[in-house]
Amino acid sequence: MMRVCIVLVGLLCLLSIEAYEVGLTFLDTAVAQGAVCLDGSAPAYHMDKGFDAGIDNWLVFFEGGGWCNNVTNCLARRDTRLGSSKQMLTTETFSGMFHNKPKYNPDFYNWNRIKVRYCDGASFTGDVEEVDPKTNLHFRGARIFRAVIEDLLAKGMKNATNAMLAGCSAGGLTSILHCDNFRSLLPANTTVKCLSDAGFFINAKTIIGTSHIEGFYADVVKTHGSAKVLSPACTSKMSPGLVRADALKNTLKVDFFCQNSKLTFLIVFCSVFFPQNMVQYIETPIFLINAAYDSWQVKNILAPGVADRKGTWRDCKLDITKCSSAQLNILQGYRQEFLKALTGFDNSPSRGMFINSCYSHCQTGIQETWLRNDSPLLSNTTIAKAVGDWYYERATFQKIDCPYPCDKTCHNRVFE
Ligand SMILES: *[C@@H]1O[C@H](CO)[C@@H](O)[C@H](O)[C@H]1NC(C)=O
Ligand SMILES: *[C@@H]1O[C@H](CO)[C@@H](O)[C@H](O)[C@H]1NC(C)=O
Ligand SMILES: *[C@@H]1O[C@H](CO)[C@@H](O)[C@H](O)[C@H]1NC(C)=O
Ligand SMILES: *[C@@H]1O[C@H](CO)[C@@H](O)[C@H](O)[C@H]1NC(C)=O
Repeated sequence: MMRVCIVLVGLLCLLSIEAYEVGLTFLDTAVAQGAVCLDGSAPAYHMDKGFDAGIDNWLVFFEGGGWCNNVTNCLARRDTRLGSSKQMLTTETFSGMFHNKPKYNPDFYNWNRIKVRYCDGASFTGDVEEVDPKTNLHFRGARIFRAVIEDLLAKGMKNATNAMLAGCSAGGLTSILHCDNFRSLLPANTTVKCLSDAGFFINAKTIIGTSHIEGFYADVVKTHGSAKVLSPACTSKMSPGLVRADALKNTLKVDFFCQNSKLTFLIVFCSVFFPQNMVQYIETPIFLINAAYDSWQVKNILAPGVADRKGTWRDCKLDITKCSSAQLNILQGYRQEFLKALTGFDNSPSRGMFINSCYSHCQTGIQETWLRNDSPLLSNTTIAKAVGDWYYERATFQKIDCPYPCDKTCHNRVFE
């Protein structure tokens, strides 16, 4: 009994050091600009103020949580924490990259650290003026993005020395899609960089060779009116003719998914939601952290339920150690596709990447994968060190891990 108590106290102690709670700030002023969550409620974020030498440095991190691709699915999320700030928990755990102690977060601990809650369902890209009174659904993610940045500028970010746009999962995609936009909203003399954690979703086929994620993303873009927000990212850098040729090359099935609307326009935006089709046009320094066997991608792009009706992949998706050798071969193929999708991401020193071979999804916001004595390593380097070295230009970092299961430092996800 005594022993159990000591272990328990020790554990609580460890948890309380490795993480702490930060309250929620509602952005009520955004409502007047129509910058609202799916249900029309105010957007919200958690902020821990910078201090000492970090007072003029800002980390703006966007939360993830999948996407809703049509009215049915957006209705299902409208009254949850992913669609309404009325449903959000009022505190959030800050750990890993958000930690306020140098031991746990040596390069960013004293920055202003902001975690923006996800509540629009389209990686903060939507902007539809009309609201259907029957559903009361608001597709306004891009307005939320802008309102949050403007609010933070007014709270001191307009004097920023350093600023970093970041996010994980759907928020990691936000960081890629909005990277140059974020740069343009900050003063010219602020050093601005972007970090995407598990946001590099690839356009791959399922285990039965069908196209799934491509149509899903096309629906997201159509439902949320994301086109006008997304297309400038690549159209501004190329002539319209080039855009078409490039987009066509990357998205074979687009005409099928978009045949009911203006074709050329849709070809551009359907493809741009995939980072592989636009990352080469980003001018702001950017760092990608991703597992080549990203667990969300395996579950939802490679082997979604619709492509695995018999549930053959069920155990493997929940725990990579349960995959058969045939399934592992398919996973190795997925990794090859992932690496191929990355080839547009050139190796300029302003760009960083940490592509490990873990079965994981999002590795920056928790201490165990960000920085701990047992956290994942690539070239003997933790994610915290790779990102810090890149941000502060102490060293470049562009590494791809050897194939699974070579990496013994992984914290592979096991799902219940
Ligand atoms: C909405 O999307 C889901 C998932 O892709 C699909 O199963 C469903 O049929 C769609 N519903 C409508 C009304 O289009
Ligand atoms: C920004 O800096 C200026 C000049 O130092 C100062 O007057 C102002 O209060 C600062 N603004 C914010 C929002 O911190
Ligand atoms: C940026 O420029 C403004 C206006 O010239 C100046 O007040 C501010 O100190 C500069 N900030 C940095 C981080 O250099
Ligand atoms: C890995 O890094 C640790 C700590 O920085 C160092 O002590 C160790 O020697 C390094 N190992 C190798 C193989 O480089």
